[in-house]
Amino acid sequence: MAIRKIVEMGKDDILRKHSRRVTKFDRRLAVLLDDMAETMYEADGVGLAAPQVGTLKRVVVIDVGEGIIELVNPEIVSQEGEAISTEGCLSVPGRRGTVKRPEKVRVRAQDRKGNPIELEGEGLLAVCLCHELDHLDGILYVDKMIEDVTDKVEEENE
Ligand code: NI
Repeated sequence: MAIRKIVEMGKDDILRKHSRRVTKFDRRLAVLLDDMAETMYEADGVGLAAPQVGTLKRVVVIDVGEGIIELVNPEIVSQEGEAISTEGCLSVPGRRGTVKRPEKVRVRAQDRKGNPIELEGEGLLAVCLCHELDHLDGILYVDKMIEDVTDKVEEENE
């Protein structure tokens, strides 16, 4: 495993590109997932998407304190409710802002072997799923930000 360099907003336009679907569930994908998890933990994040480490693949890792979740080719299949919460992003260091997201989402994806998986997220997990999936389409939370609260709060939330 290796820690990869996290791309920052404004320094690399890869964050603005659409990621490609994964079609090969090979050793390379496994290494990417392992490296992304290590990079996320090292940076104290709760989620990381492949474009943030310079790879345009539809791959994300999340850990909101309940263990690692690996999602390949994830898609939101349904959503419910609305909630506003504070977000940050490892690619937008030192900043925080409020964003409105669904309260609950259901996501369909594949695991590292290509098996179909489905999961439901509420609260922080729902926020995280939406935030990370947005990265795969070149969208950053600051695009949806209601208010920049960088100087107002200190809260743990990717
Ligand atoms: Ni992010």
